[in-house]
Amino acid sequence: MEERVKPLKSFLSRRSFLGKSLAVGAGTMGAGFLATTLAAQVSDANSRGGLTRGDADILRFLAAAELIEADLWQQYNELGGIQDPEVPGGTGNPAYTAALQVLDGDMNQYIHDNTDDEITHAAFLNAYLASKGAQPVNLDQFRTLPSSQATGAQQIGRLTNLMQLTVDTSWWTRYRSDNKNPDFGDTFRQAIEGLSMGQFPAIPRNNGDLTPPDHLQAIANTAGFHFGFIEQGGTSLYPSLAQRVTHDEALRILLSIGPTEAMHFQTWHDKAGNAPPLTDPTNGLVFPDLNSPPFGGEEFQTNLIMPEPTIFLSRAFPIVSIVRPTETDGAAMAALNALTADGLFIGQTPAFFALLTELARAADHARHGG
Ligand SMILES: [Fe+2]
Ligand SMILES: [Fe+2]
Repeated sequence: MEERVKPLKSFLSRRSFLGKSLAVGAGTMGAGFLATTLAAQVSDANSRGGLTRGDADILRFLAAAELIEADLWQQYNELGGIQDPEVPGGTGNPAYTAALQVLDGDMNQYIHDNTDDEITHAAFLNAYLASKGAQPVNLDQFRTLPSSQATGAQQIGRLTNLMQLTVDTSWWTRYRSDNKNPDFGDTFRQAIEGLSMGQFPAIPRNNGDLTPPDHLQAIANTAGFHFGFIEQGGTSLYPSLAQRVTHDEALRILLSIGPTEAMHFQTWHDKAGNAPPLTDPTNGLVFPDLNSPPFGGEEFQTNLIMPEPTIFLSRAFPIVSIVRPTETDGAAMAALNALTADGLFIGQTPAFFALLTELARAADHARHGG
C-alpha cells in the first residue's frame, strides 16, 4: 500500500490546477464538499492521465525499444515467418524457413506472431504518448541499414543489423541457477560460447548462405538463440521500469505489455533447446549438445525451461521463482548497452546512438513523481 500512496501524494502537490481549485473552493465551500471535489478531481485527472515527465520518458524509451524490436522481427518474418496481410512486406525464404522449422514445426507461425506483437507494442505506446500531448518516438530517419539480399526479403532501409550478431546466451544458465542473480552482481556461463565471441548472421545475407546445409542450419540456430536473447530482455525491462512510473494507467500499460515479452521468451527458450548440435563448416561456429557432458545437468539440460527459483532481494529470504534481473537503477541504459553489444546497431550513425542514449538517460532519470 505504501508504494501506491506515495505517487498520489506527489501528484497532489505537483498539479497546479488542483492548487487553483483549492483556493477558489476554500473561499466559497465547506470542508466536506471541498474534500469530495478534490477527490473527484484527482480521480478524474488520474483516469485522464496527465503524464508526468518521468512517465513520458519511460514510455518513450519503451516505444524506441519496441520500434527496434519490430524492425528486427520484421526482418525475421520476411524470410522465416508466415507471409500475410497482418505482417506484410516479405515473400519468404523456403530454405531458411525449413531450417528454422527443425527447431519446431510452428516456428514460422511464432515468428509471425511475435513480429505482429512488437509492431502493436510500438504503435500503441506512441499513440498513447500522443494522446497525452507527449512527444512520440520516430526512428524513420535511421532506417538506413541494408536488407538481406536473400530471396524473400524486401529491399528497404532497416534500423537493425541481423547479419553480424554477437549473441549473449548467458540467459540460458541465468534462468537455471538456484543460487545466483544478476541483481546481486552474479555472472553466468554461456550456453553457446561461440555465439558470444564472433560475429554471425541470424538471417541468410544472400542466397549464398543457403548452402551447405549445416551452414544454413547454424544461421537458423543462431536466430533461435537470438530470439530468446531479445525476449528475455523485454521480460526484464518492463518490470524494471514499472517500479518508477507514477500514474496508474502508465503502470497498467507496463504491467500489461511486459508479461507478453515473457510469453515470447518462454516459447523461444523452449525452441532454442531444439537447435541441433553441429559445427558450421564455413566458420567453425559450434553448437554443442547441451544435454551431454561436459554440458547437461541443472545448468544446461534443454527441457529445464521454467525459471529455476533463485535468490531475490536478500539471501535471508527463501529462494523464489522470478524474472531476473529487475533492478530499476540504470535499467534503460543497460538494455541499450545489451542491444548494442549484440551487434544490432552495427552500421548505425552517431546521431542514432546519441538519440537512443538520450532516451535511455531520460528514462533512467525518471523517478516516482519526477
Ligand atoms: Fe515488445
Ligand atoms: Fe519482444
